[in-house]
Amino acid sequence: MAATILSHLILTVISLILVSIASNIIRQLFYRDPHKPPVVWHWFPLIGNTVDYGKDPYKFFFKCREKYGDYFTFELLGMKTTVFLGAKGNDFILNGKHKDLNAEEVYGPLTVPVFGRGVVYDVENARFMDQKRLLVGGFTSQNLRAYVPEFVREVEQFLMTNVAFHGKGGVCDISSVFSEISLYTAAGSLQGKEVRDSFDSTFATYYRHLDDGFAPVNFMFPWLPIPINRRRDRAQRVMAGLYTDIIRRRRTTGNETDSHDMLWALMDARYKDGTAIPDEEIANLMIALLMGGQHNTAASGTWVMLHLAHRPHLIEELYQEQKHVMGSESLTLESLQKLTLHNNVIKEALRLHSPIHSIMRKVKTPMQIPDTDVVVPAGHILLAAPGVPSRTEEFFPDAMEWNAHRWDKQEQDENEEGDTIDYGYGAVSSKAAYSPYLPFGAGRHRCVGETFAYAQLGAILATLVRLLQWEQVDPKAPVPETDYSSMFSRPMHPATIRWRHRP
Ligand code: HEM
Repeated sequence: MAATILSHLILTVISLILVSIASNIIRQLFYRDPHKPPVVWHWFPLIGNTVDYGKDPYKFFFKCREKYGDYFTFELLGMKTTVFLGAKGNDFILNGKHKDLNAEEVYGPLTVPVFGRGVVYDVENARFMDQKRLLVGGFTSQNLRAYVPEFVREVEQFLMTNVAFHGKGGVCDISSVFSEISLYTAAGSLQGKEVRDSFDSTFATYYRHLDDGFAPVNFMFPWLPIPINRRRDRAQRVMAGLYTDIIRRRRTTGNETDSHDMLWALMDARYKDGTAIPDEEIANLMIALLMGGQHNTAASGTWVMLHLAHRPHLIEELYQEQKHVMGSESLTLESLQKLTLHNNVIKEALRLHSPIHSIMRKVKTPMQIPDTDVVVPAGHILLAAPGVPSRTEEFFPDAMEWNAHRWDKQEQDENEEGDTIDYGYGAVSSKAAYSPYLPFGAGRHRCVGETFAYAQLGAILATLVRLLQWEQVDPKAPVPETDYSSMFSRPMHPATIRWRHRP
């Protein structure tokens, strides 16, 4: 009896799957709605085009553009996702109105359990824009000027003490080395002395547990009672507690050493309505900054190191640039800004390897694609891929060739000039979204960490160039492929280089 029920059940499930596959195919073949974006062909509902997109989003975008044009809808784990490529697409999505397009519903499930309550995507957009304004206030030149020597000291210390750099030379996994260095440099500057001092012990473990919470499965099921999520929730509570303890201690001692870290900046700041930021929100903002910035910086820095390993002559050019600009002086924010080739090396790495390949928003009201009668329905996810124009011959000759010298003759990007708009965190160019180079995004959700990231990456690179020489382990091997399997893309492991101390 039980066996008969089971076989009936299995038959019913199989029939339902077959019916849904068949109706999905019939819909695509015979019911194309001319007022909706074309649908990318897929055999199976729910799974849709997830595998193709997940393996290599750029390959997928370029292939679809050839077939369907600049806008098309694909199925991503059951979500109807409409991609709009090119400058018009970037403007449409990145400059979209908040009532039409919403970031928090897409990013919130993954990030709120990691960052904590009361900040970023857990609050009304206007409040988050006000929080971004306060963060911008913490990235002043005065603060960055204080950070640069800290960055240098951290890298020197790392090379002296880390086992990967014992001896005259060797091979190291530059991906983990850069992750560690960028974590320590961010902790030692932005996060403050107390956080840096406890990073070798307490913070590091909780950081890792929080980081594991960024697993792609948590985009859909952040509440799953699985071990990574239990560890994530505990780490969030403990880490927020550590920050609030530091804040309380600071309030009693005062800023005796005249520190310039973000924690002091937020403790002294006020929301637009004049109220102070509650300690828990300061703590969670600090966690958000650490978690949000770290992956982008670490992945971008690793790409820089790998491309340079393929071009040791460029490492020597960088060394000469330092000698020319700084002589025997120590690195400062001002000298860093004059190290043009250093900055261009970073710029070129970000052109080809921006860690955020897909910028997503949830469509709240139907949105008509300009100059067409095609409408993106409410409920779709709209996806911008600013990395696509960055990889296009029209804007960058030999686009897929990594060439830092392409930026030698830089002209001011005309799109950066002209009208500005203030979303609540300071004026930004309203035309910026038309630029073919947008590694830091544009519009309401544009990155506020760009100046910090450039100072951090520049100082790390300059110090490594001053102290080390490096090259490919296998001179014939190409630069590693990109790993798109997590939220932020990065070089595929292992990403090794052969290094030696500079004589
Ligand atoms: C190379 C390094 C970095 C890259 C390539 C990068 C890239 C980006 C991009 C593309 C966005 C826009 C996301 C969207 O529109 O959905 C963004 C937003 C943001 N980034 Fe960065 N970022 C970097 C470093 C940092 C650092 C170091 C921090 C902080 C210390 C930071 C903080 C933020 C914040 C607060 C936002 C705003 C998010 C929003 O408004 O929704 N970023 N970043």
